Amino acid sequence: MKVVIPAAGQGTRFLPATKSMPKEMLPVLDRPVIQYVVEEAIASGADDITIVTGRGKRALEDHFDLSPELGKYNELPAMKSLDELAERATIHFVRQRTPRGLADAVLCAARHVGKEAFGVLLGDTINVCEPPLLRQLWDRFEELGGHSSVIAVEKVPDSKVSDYGIVAGPEVRPGVTEVQKMVEKPTLAKAPSRLGITGAYVLTSSIFHEIRTTPPGRNQEVQLTDAIDRLRQREKVYGVGFTGTRYDIGDRFLWLKTNLEFAMQQPELRERLRPLLREMMG
Ligand code: G1P
Repeated sequence: MKVVIPAAGQGTRFLPATKSMPKEMLPVLDRPVIQYVVEEAIASGADDITIVTGRGKRALEDHFDLSPELGKYNELPAMKSLDELAERATIHFVRQRTPRGLADAVLCAARHVGKEAFGVLLGDTINVCEPPLLRQLWDRFEELGGHSSVIAVEKVPDSKVSDYGIVAGPEVRPGVTEVQKMVEKPTLAKAPSRLGITGAYVLTSSIFHEIRTTPPGRNQEVQLTDAIDRLRQREKVYGVGFTGTRYDIGDRFLWLKTNLEFAMQQPELRERLRPLLREMMG
């Protein structure tokens, strides 16, 4: 399975932390977010990953490279497992020259993807799912005939609707919506449903043609939601529910919350955090 991971966003919500460091390198406990995303792709069956980067994002390439200067530290279990991870799939990097939006970033991988359907995972979102999220999506993709794109969706609260791409359409089988409307970050009044796009996709390669012909939308950027909306006028597109939890680290509160939740799952950290949190709460 080929997987594209757009990681070219500027991370403006994290400035100045992301002035010279990619937001995908922000750590959640002891690993940068991008590592969780690559782990998820590989656990889902990816053997070929393209990470789309941009200016100031070289740290992403270095992270998956060997680091002989670290000598014996390369023997640490965490370093060994990172090295094994990088060996399990071919990881390619391609640069988006101008920040022109998510769809344009996906388009940067077009030559590499070729004619196959492929997975997309966002470089700043961790999914903790069993089976892994992209595996769940790929299984749905195959069940639905293997020629219709599928996108992961979940119900979002009213207050969050305008942060998401929203899809709507009839539920054709439990947990599967045949998409008939898609809007990128609508106001609550204009939202056709409460089903939000969570940022994991299996797309047919026809998407590349649609991206090339989609005019810039919200924020003057070519939106992936708009391109998929055009795609669904030629091919079926399904929104599918999934089991598991999604951790968006898109702003400092969400990033902190993710760190805390992950820490609380580790017995040694939980033991030390509990009294500290109680004390802080007064
Ligand atoms: C992107 C997509 C949006 C989707 C969201 C999920 O927006 O454009 O459709 O709902 O990811 O996180 P972003 O969060 O990059 O602004």
